[in-house]
Amino acid sequence: MSAKSEERPKDNASELERLRQTCGDLRSSLESMRIYYEDLLGSLQDAIVVVDSGGRIRSVNQAAEELIGLSAQPLNDRPFEQAFPHDRPLQELVRKTLESGRTRTDFDARLTRLDGSQVVVSAVGSLIRDARGEARGVVLALRDQTRIRDLEERLSRSDRLAALGTVAAGVAHEIRNPLAGLRGAAQLLEGESDFPPAFKEYTSVIIKEVDRLAGIVEILLSFASPRAPVLRSCNLHQILDNLLFLEQAPLRDRGVSVQRVYDPQLPEILADPAEIHQVFLNLIRNGVEAMPGGGELTLRTRYERSSQRCGGLSVAVAEIIDRGAGFDPEIERHLFTPFFTTKEGGTGLGLAICLRIVEDHGGAMEAASQPGKGSSFRVMLPLAKQPGPAPQEWLRP
Ligand SMILES: Nc1ncnc2c1ncn2[C@@H]1O[C@H](COP(=O)(O)OP(=O)(O)O)[C@@H](O)[C@H]1O
Ligand SMILES: [Mg+2]
Repeated sequence: MSAKSEERPKDNASELERLRQTCGDLRSSLESMRIYYEDLLGSLQDAIVVVDSGGRIRSVNQAAEELIGLSAQPLNDRPFEQAFPHDRPLQELVRKTLESGRTRTDFDARLTRLDGSQVVVSAVGSLIRDARGEARGVVLALRDQTRIRDLEERLSRSDRLAALGTVAAGVAHEIRNPLAGLRGAAQLLEGESDFPPAFKEYTSVIIKEVDRLAGIVEILLSFASPRAPVLRSCNLHQILDNLLFLEQAPLRDRGVSVQRVYDPQLPEILADPAEIHQVFLNLIRNGVEAMPGGGELTLRTRYERSSQRCGGLSVAVAEIIDRGAGFDPEIERHLFTPFFTTKEGGTGLGLAICLRIVEDHGGAMEAASQPGKGSSFRVMLPLAKQPGPAPQEWLRP
């Protein structure tokens, strides 16, 4: 009896030790499972937000943090609707997935980032069920679609340009010959011996207006049936300086001063200098027209390695910045559309021609504006010598 009672504490102690051991094992396997799932979520390219059946956020992976522009900490445990108050379609998607129990998708949802900017995302909400088939929550997978949308927009813009170009070429050809006839007839009239000098005023209006129209027709034709650029290695700064030299009188007359912020290390570009001259002439003229009371125009250049916008080519970036009135988002959508103009007497072809030339060079263009403060037009042009691939980390000495 006494031997047994002596043994009991010993038994208990070893049982306790065994339990402690099991508990430790369980804790470490739970921990390694947690790390495993975190790694799994973390290595996914898609942004993942896990919401529980009560609508609260349970987990946010790294891609989601980057997309939202916020670390996961303040999001965890918050109701989804509070965390994304401006994104009704996403709230609906989560709610409907929970209610219907079926996977829901929205390929055109908008997500408001922490800084207030919006990104277009494709969203897929899938239900999480437990072993008994009960809804445990929703996994929301988000993918940034901005670049795809951008590409679609550029493709459809190119299609539009091509179609309009064909029409414009047809119309321009039709107009060119009668115009020459009109001008010739007016001149013949003036040359008649009994031509009353008092009518000279009218014939000179005809000739002046015909010349103006002919000018527009020439622009149209050069836009519609472009010649292929003759590419060679050239210095962008030289093209810009030459242009500024030729334009110095009109710039001075309009009270515009030019600031040059050049990157002295900028490598040469592969370009047709006459065409690039035309691009920057159009942009500078627009900048000047945007500042009717005069002001400052900045020309800035820099180098960009492996530009996403130009299929990974390294490019020279040149930016023309004015301090004019800028443009609102509605106008921004149409800037490069041929014949779109907000100016009396404008042709609406300046930017369309710029874009066509730049794209013929394998480059790209972007416009940005702060309404009321000014605009900037950015031109990216591929370099003549493309640098080789970056050395791999492990190859470096
Ligand atoms: N620097 C600028 N600032 C503000 N708006 C601009 C600027 N450049 C272009 N735009 C807008 O884009 C339109 C189209 O420009 P463009 O194609 O050069 O044709 P145009 O100058 O004949 O109007 C302009 O009418 C104007 O509304
Ligand atoms: Mg213009």
